[in-house]
Amino acid sequence: MLKKIAFPASQLPLQCLYRNENLLRQMAENADFCQIPEKVERVYGPLVFPAAPPDRPYLTGCLVLSLDGRLGFENESSSRTLTSANKLDHSQGKTDLWLVNLVRTWADAVLLGTGTLKEEPEFTGHVYDPDLQAFREAHDSRFCRNPWNVIITRRPGELPWQHPVLSTPQIPLLVVVPASSRQELVDCPGGRFCYGVIDGANPQETVGLAAMSAQMVNRQLEKDPEGADPRHLVITLPDDHFPDFHTLLSLLRQLGVRQMAVESPHWIWQLMAEKKLDEFFLTHTGVYAGGSVLPGTGHAFQPASAPQGQLASLHMTPESVLFSRQVLVY
Ligand SMILES: NC(=O)c1ccc[n+]([C@@H]2O[C@H](COP(=O)([O-])OP(=O)(O)OC[C@H]3O[C@@H](n4cnc5c(N)ncnc54)[C@H](OP(=O)(O)O)[C@@H]3O)[C@@H](O)[C@H]2O)c1
Repeated sequence: MLKKIAFPASQLPLQCLYRNENLLRQMAENADFCQIPEKVERVYGPLVFPAAPPDRPYLTGCLVLSLDGRLGFENESSSRTLTSANKLDHSQGKTDLWLVNLVRTWADAVLLGTGTLKEEPEFTGHVYDPDLQAFREAHDSRFCRNPWNVIITRRPGELPWQHPVLSTPQIPLLVVVPASSRQELVDCPGGRFCYGVIDGANPQETVGLAAMSAQMVNRQLEKDPEGADPRHLVITLPDDHFPDFHTLLSLLRQLGVRQMAVESPHWIWQLMAEKKLDEFFLTHTGVYAGGSVLPGTGHAFQPASAPQGQLASLHMTPESVLFSRQVLVY
């Protein structure tokens, strides 16, 4: 059973402080889907994403940081612990969690990190808000019921198979591994799913078989609403320079992924280093965490080539949470 959380609009006290109208107009002009849930319009305001480029998904990062730039507290590093520690946030972090849901509403895939799976045992990459999920289901020619949860790992044998992301049949799962680790997944660890394997070095035939349109998937799920999503796949990529994002992102696009929410801190910074992250939804919650749970430590950018965040909009909840939507400029 997939988790549902009610987010009454009255408990989401978002105020819009700034909108970069020129930038937002340009983004909307490049959109190929302009529908918006009524609740988003009311609580957040207009929100449109540019269409994906032809060769890869449009990539949106999403994170919450403390005021001193930490991902979480030293010994309790989950994002929910961080947001609920802010006593001045009367929503106790719920507004930030809703923003995560909002970004997922447009996503065909959610990229999660294994570091997060190990630290946070209780989440999956689907839309918890029934109102936003109803929007996805109302646009079932555009969206599959639930987005793919994508995990990229060098060590599939160490995956926590009891984690809901890996053990919930309704969650479509795509595990990306080095070719030399393929055997570790062939026997279907955890015993839950039988995986189809796409060879990223020679993908044509297998992608053709695996790419299922949203309508095909939704039709299958309609027969059994609590049934398993049929999309459980492994992609193998060459061990050298794993993961080759050029190949991986092109494969995801062929699998019908137009937009992917990137929620793994490691992969957000990696995709910025590769100049591929398009947007960042970044929450700053008004609490100082201290300690060493910092993002981007493995990716030291140079001053002349550091990614820039161009502000598209800024929201706040009284009195101490800031939500920015930034477009990455490289
Ligand atoms: N504040 C927030 O919004 C937020 C959101 C999510 C998570 N978190 C917290 O952030 C922490 C996790 O962040 P994270 O960045 O450490 O992990 P992560 O992004 O969750 O996972 C790291 C990912 O990078 C992969 N990887 C590939 N090469 C790597 C390398 N050279 N070094 C490290 N990882 C590599 C890992 O795969 P392998 O399996 O191959 O190692 C893994 O999939 C947790 O404490 C979590 O609770 C906070």
